[in-house]
Amino acid sequence: MVGLYSATILFVVTCLYPSNCQTPDNICQSSAYRNLPTGLQNEHQCMVLERLQRDMQNEKLTRDRQFNSILTKLSRLDIKMQAGFHRVKDMPSANRARGFPALKDITVARNCYELKMSGLNLSGVYPLKLPSGYVVNVWCDMEMQGGGWTVIQRRFDGSVNFTRGWDDYAFGFGNVNSEFWLGNENIYYMLRNTNYTLRIDLLDWEDQHAWAQYDYFKVASEENKYKLTINGFSGTAGDSLAYHNNMFFSTMDRDHDKWYASCSNKDQSGWWFNACSYASLNGIFHPNGEQNITPDGVITGITWFEWKQNLAYSMKRVEMKIKPRVALMAEAEGLIGGYD
Ligand SMILES: *[C@@H]1O[C@H](CO)[C@@H](O)[C@H](O)[C@H]1NC(C)=O
Ligand SMILES: *[C@@H]1O[C@H](CO)[C@@H](O)[C@H](O)[C@H]1NC(C)=O
Ligand SMILES: *[C@@H]1O[C@H](CO)[C@@H](O)[C@H](O)[C@H]1NC(C)=O
Repeated sequence: MVGLYSATILFVVTCLYPSNCQTPDNICQSSAYRNLPTGLQNEHQCMVLERLQRDMQNEKLTRDRQFNSILTKLSRLDIKMQAGFHRVKDMPSANRARGFPALKDITVARNCYELKMSGLNLSGVYPLKLPSGYVVNVWCDMEMQGGGWTVIQRRFDGSVNFTRGWDDYAFGFGNVNSEFWLGNENIYYMLRNTNYTLRIDLLDWEDQHAWAQYDYFKVASEENKYKLTINGFSGTAGDSLAYHNNMFFSTMDRDHDKWYASCSNKDQSGWWFNACSYASLNGIFHPNGEQNITPDGVITGITWFEWKQNLAYSMKRVEMKIKPRVALMAEAEGLIGGYD
């Protein structure tokens, strides 16, 4: 019975991904894992799994010895008692008794660039520890322009409702595997002590791509209504955010814009509205783009005016992402690393 118990554990651990049983160290690289829907792929959990597996393998010999010794003792007992021994399942498991060792060596970084620098080059979901002390799961883009980008917003299928109030925009909503807003509070804390560059990637309904980048990007604290500061534009999409520079964040329940009415109510979203917008990336997702003018003339889409010269054109896909400015400067200089 003891032997059976041991074999069951090892089978579960090495064959979680059955097609990968020959190379059990590489769960995360296996096609079985990579072919899962992206919504189910979580790089951190995968690393934890690999780590757990390695720990189990490293401990296999020790445990085999322990089990053998227990077996020996048991058979002696068995002989002594001249009876069956039925309580084997209650034997303490070495792994359980020492807690969960798998997490201790996996670093929690401050941003995706640190993860990139530590050798992680697969885009996906990773935990970050923010200066606020909170640990949040984010999506790291490890491929675009050198990789190491922390994604703070994504739209592409309308699966998440962006018509939300102040608190939702403050603390974030959605799913980092699909559509989400990381949260003004999280963004503020990330940007507070480190200079970051903001990059915005846009896709239209013909799958053409354009981008806008701001060397300097700050979001103020909640006391200062998450005021936006940007500077140093470059890109192919045109500078539609300039009009929003130095604006406060507004939501349907907190109107801080410069219009006589509420831009948030009109656009049904949260943004750094002026009176109202040339860029509105949290607007309503409109399948097929240009159908976003209501009969009374209100426009509500995911817009970037300078690219399309059309406030009624709603994007197919948007991503906002950030990376430490020094990282981009170092890459531009052809230096590797050199961060902090
Ligand atoms: C990603 O990292 C792995 C392991 O460090 C390496 O084998 C692989 O070549 C890297 N891939 C890219 C695209 O850099
Ligand atoms: C999104 O949420 C708002 C506020 O709760 C609601 O009024 C609206 O109908 C929702 N939109 C959709 C498409 O569900
Ligand atoms: C951040 O950028 C500002 C404006 O360019 C600069 O004055 C400041 O020294 C930078 N801070 C750090 C920590 O590099």
